[in-house]
Amino acid sequence: MYAHPNPKSFCHAILERFTKGLADAGHASEVVDLYAIDFDPVFRPRDFASYVHEDMPPEILERMNLKQAVLDVAGGPVRRFLAERWLRNNDTRAVAKVIHTQRPKDVMLQWEKLKAADGLAFIAPVYWLHFPAILKGWFERVFAYGDAYALTPEGWGGEASGRVPLLHHEKALVISTTLFSEANYKAAWEAPVTRMIDDWGLRYPGVMHVEHVYSFRVPVVDDDTRRSYLDRAYRSFLGLICLRTGPTSPISRLSSKEVRRPWGEEQKCRASNFPVSIPDWDLTRMSSISPWHYHGRLQFAPNCGIVDSRAAPSCRYHLGYARI
Ligand SMILES: Cc1cc2nc3c(=O)[nH]c(=O)nc-3n(C[C@H](O)[C@H](O)[C@H](O)COP(=O)(O)O)c2cc1C
Repeated sequence: MYAHPNPKSFCHAILERFTKGLADAGHASEVVDLYAIDFDPVFRPRDFASYVHEDMPPEILERMNLKQAVLDVAGGPVRRFLAERWLRNNDTRAVAKVIHTQRPKDVMLQWEKLKAADGLAFIAPVYWLHFPAILKGWFERVFAYGDAYALTPEGWGGEASGRVPLLHHEKALVISTTLFSEANYKAAWEAPVTRMIDDWGLRYPGVMHVEHVYSFRVPVVDDDTRRSYLDRAYRSFLGLICLRTGPTSPISRLSSKEVRRPWGEEQKCRASNFPVSIPDWDLTRMSSISPWHYHGRLQFAPNCGIVDSRAAPSCRYHLGYARI
């Protein structure tokens, strides 16, 4: 997801380096340039369908008066007659199910892209300590109830802890450009941004790992600093990509040299670093996929598969992240 109004901005240069890094590593990626597609970020009455879902508690659905909502948009007398007849034979839950399928087409398109992705990246300037409105609105419209998140009865009762994450993404990377300095951000501004974007916007709906990197003071820093920002963007895919290994994985077809080359860190790729410690939360998530996460050194077996046989020997394949 990319959001900057100027295609000649430094932010756009970051996008270009980032996608080049992905491509050089053999990963497929798709850029959604929100300004270029003129995405409408405003949650309008038509977006009501995104906020209705058959799995909502019945009393909440009843309060939404869905049957009347259907009649209100039924159009002329014939359509109204047909709608009334259909509504007589269907309960509120069935009505909710149909309404949810009526989400706006632009939202559905974005949702399909989101669903198909293994990892997510958001590249944008900081505006008012948040994403630019066009990207903030993308979240409001695309992260629909029943798709991106749901609520338990406690959640419906007003408890923020009653949230049910529904996204499946293992990783999201946020790259933000700023005017203000790193010292300023560390002292005051980074914490609220992390809370709003990383925690509430991404972790709450289910993204397991969120990494947020800043390119500080972009409009005023020297060229060397800018170059370092671009280099880091090129290498950032390390923080984003889930490396799937094993027989079902496309990465297993690459030679270890091919896989390592773009990172320029070959000397660190040593199988002898095993075993790594697996955080508890990873151990609770072992089903057909076994993720593990290790910050520090890249760790690969000689065949370039990421190996941790202790984690879940019966897994079809393992997921790993490496970040340097
Ligand atoms: C509407 C608006 C709001 C902004 N809010 C912030 C802000 O809250 N914090 C900040 O560090 N910079 C803020 N900026 C500055 C931009 O983040 C900065 O100019 C941009 O990241 C530089 O990247 P670029 O050269 O690619 O545009 C704001 C800029 C605009 C236009």
